[in-house]
Amino acid sequence: MKPLIVALALVLAAPAPAAQAAARTPHDLRRLAHQNGIRIGTAVDVAALRTEPDYRAALNREFTNVTAENAMKWESVEPQRGVHTWADADAVVDNARRHGQQVRGHNLVWHNQLPAWLTEGVQNGTIGAAELRRILRDHITTEVRRYKGRIRAWDVVNEVIDEDGTLRKSIWLTQLGPGYIADAFRWARQADPRAKLYVNDYNLEWNSPKIEATLALIKDLRSQGVPVDGIGFQGHLGIQYDYPGDWANVMRRFADLGLEVAVTEMDVRMVLPVTPEKLATQAAYYGRALTGCLSVPACKEFTVWGFTDRHSWVPGWFDGEGAACLLDESLTPKPAYTTLLTSTP
Ligand code: XIL
Repeated sequence: MKPLIVALALVLAAPAPAAQAAARTPHDLRRLAHQNGIRIGTAVDVAALRTEPDYRAALNREFTNVTAENAMKWESVEPQRGVHTWADADAVVDNARRHGQQVRGHNLVWHNQLPAWLTEGVQNGTIGAAELRRILRDHITTEVRRYKGRIRAWDVVNEVIDEDGTLRKSIWLTQLGPGYIADAFRWARQADPRAKLYVNDYNLEWNSPKIEATLALIKDLRSQGVPVDGIGFQGHLGIQYDYPGDWANVMRRFADLGLEVAVTEMDVRMVLPVTPEKLATQAAYYGRALTGCLSVPACKEFTVWGFTDRHSWVPGWFDGEGAACLLDESLTPKPAYTTLLTSTP
């Protein structure tokens, strides 16, 4: 071959990274979502939404579903007793409506990110059990009503089963007894009869005691007529662990109960530094997860817990780990992003 032709062939075979990114920019995940009849979502960092135009553009271009990363949690919406602060949660919901995105509400009952007035009141005995139950009812009713008709699905209870399959010994269980779970679902249903109501948890991709206990809990709730509609798999994975190969089967077991299935907080972290090999493994994990979801008809949502390494909870929570998202810090697609685009059931 003549040198010019060789050079041309090389250029065609290996486009520059910038050109690759540019070619992929428009709506790729949105297109993927529409092609497969599922929602592809992400957690939203409200500060970034407000102040970073490139973050906002990518969010609105790529995703058909959003979850507030922190803005709807109890400590965010009622930092002082009786004083509600909705501005951040409203910003997520309003932005979603302007861009044709559906919203997952996250979350109503959890043991983390509770306001200090609540945990301290319980601890020092100024808030007794009967009052705590009223406080929980009011919290659920107020928040669900506020967004009635604008939230497709709520994570009603988050992380209520422990690793050993027992109910988590949160203030809710210890103060109110196990009935708080049924109460929470009933109150949520009353406040917005059309919202889909979910149990959401982590390690449900592989942890048998947790899987069995969660299945049993939901069966029991539904036999009592408690309105549970869906199961959320958080999907926080790391490439230093084996891929949870049975995950799609676990999804099917929940689907067989008649539940919606969603991947609600997917990310795939790695021990830093990043290497091309680790990025390839990460891509394979993301791809298998999406393929698994697509192979289960009840799985119609695939949500990632942040879409860029610029804003991810991982480095702050897992020492020495990071790079868990689909786009890097400058919003350039990583191999995981490209792999999602070609994942099929
Ligand atoms: C995390 C957020 O990403 C962080 O910003 C925050 O500091 C702590 O919570 N499971 C959940 C999410 O259900 O709400 C958590 O989000 C991550 C684990």
